Amino acid sequence: MFKRLTLAVLVMLLVGCVGLSWHSEVPPIGAPPSSSFPAAQVALGGQLAGAGGCAGCHTAAGGLAYGGGVGLETGFGTIYSTNISPDVQTGIGSWSLAAFDRALRQGVARDGTHLFPAFPYTHFTLLSDGDVGALYAYFMTRDPVSSPSRANRIPFPLNVRSLQAGWKLLFFKPGVYRADARRGEAWNRGAYLAEGIAHCAACHTPRNRFGAERSDAPYAGAPLDGWVAPTLSAASPAPVPWSQQDLYDYLRNGESERHGVAAGAMAAVVHQGLARLPDSDIQALATYFSDLGGAAGREPQAAAALALAQTRRLADVGQETDPAANLYLAGCAYCHYSAAPGPGKVSGSLALSTALTADDPANFIQTVLHGVGGAGTPGPYMPAFAGALTDADIALLAAYLRRTRSDRPAWPNLLPTVTAHRPMAAVPP
Ligand code: HEC
Ligand code: HEC
Ligand code: HEC
Repeated sequence: MFKRLTLAVLVMLLVGCVGLSWHSEVPPIGAPPSSSFPAAQVALGGQLAGAGGCAGCHTAAGGLAYGGGVGLETGFGTIYSTNISPDVQTGIGSWSLAAFDRALRQGVARDGTHLFPAFPYTHFTLLSDGDVGALYAYFMTRDPVSSPSRANRIPFPLNVRSLQAGWKLLFFKPGVYRADARRGEAWNRGAYLAEGIAHCAACHTPRNRFGAERSDAPYAGAPLDGWVAPTLSAASPAPVPWSQQDLYDYLRNGESERHGVAAGAMAAVVHQGLARLPDSDIQALATYFSDLGGAAGREPQAAAALALAQTRRLADVGQETDPAANLYLAGCAYCHYSAAPGPGKVSGSLALSTALTADDPANFIQTVLHGVGGAGTPGPYMPAFAGALTDADIALLAAYLRRTRSDRPAWPNLLPTVTAHRPMAAVPP
């Protein structure tokens, strides 16, 4: 009986979906001449394209700008990004503003088919008309790149695009951003940028089994290509709250004195993405996220946490016979000891980093394996230790630093966890 009922519901859903899924084609146009877009509009579009991470997903490593073909691993298979350069044959050169707008804010391609939510239209839907127009101006004035799209590797029936209508019915809330009248201008600007173009939640909010962001766990943290995008809500494991100033420093320069450095995918978000936004927008993001994390309420505890981190730098003194302490003193303390600010200070205290206080050791392991910065990334540098340290060494260091630099319970199964992380991508596409 139950089975029959489920089947009936499924069939109904399917029929509903097919009905709802129908969208007409937007007629093709001749590529509009670059001169038809004012320079200021193109410049704004460039800023937004940066904040939206369009290049990160649409420019393949070593490929031409916006030529597509970047493979995104989703829980459902590999989906390839498309060519969004203004090439008429293989890109979006024949797309009118209406077609581009519908793709960004409704997730429907020019030919009327549904796009998969690996493309974060679920966030871009919040964009204002002006910002969509600016993005269109920016992309229509790029160099056209001839690069045909690659076939996705998604199994049947998940590859059936019309079924996306059902997904949208359940998980997609279309509509532009509505300001919260109880909040100030900076907060609303921050919320608009974060929830819309910058789609911070796409990485920092865990997903349900249908691949949709969980509305019951906003910014609760989520795994990402071997890393973890940490919790940004009030449940953040950061020893010191993320104040507005901390967030500004981190999002503007990739580095916060009271926390640490942006590595992994976050390094690209900061240095290639947010870098193009004006200071006022970075301040707005900082306003929004310091409020979301309840920083003001936690600030009174900050002084004690900072003092404790300072004393934890001395944890290794007299521990020279401990093999783990020895490893740390030999390989890491050179840069990470630095008990006081001054010429010897290369980096912040590890006791302040969520790499050591998070439930998951992923970011600690990835940082040690792959290092920090380098290869054109501005800011601090730490060498990769993948070649110098064995899995057992890294597990030993992780256990030791967790014990001496945090109050959190020991991480379980460290050795197999390190082994599993070793082959994972250092920096996701
Ligand atoms: C997280 C990765 C990601 C980001 C960020 C991203 N895209 Fe995409 N985009 C994709 C993928 C994947 C597709 C293909 C979706 C599909 O085939 O259903 C896509 C499709 C598109 C399409 C439809 C093109 C077509 O031929 O159907 C447009 C237009 C587009 N993106 C524009 C943008 C713009 C503009 C930005 C930045 C504001 C952006 N994308 C940011 C992954 C991304
Ligand atoms: C050549 C200097 C250098 C050495 C050696 C070094 N590090 Fe680092 N490390 C840095 C810098 C610089 C940063 C980024 C700035 C910061 O966190 O203050 C960093 C960051 C980190 C972070 C991330 C902290 C954060 O910012 O969130 C971890 C974890 C870490 N290092 C662990 C280690 C371990 C374990 C070793 C020894 C195996 C080690 N480091 C050796 C310079 C170094
Ligand atoms: C492409 C995925 C991705 C996007 C988009 C993204 N983040 Fe991150 N974020 C990460 C990852 C991964 C880390 C962990 C980096 C590390 O440990 O160095 C991180 C770390 C952070 C941290 C440090 C948290 C802590 O306690 O250590 C902050 C703050 C942050 N992100 C804010 C943001 C904001 C604000 C946005 C949107 C403007 C954003 N992120 C967008 C992946 C992402």
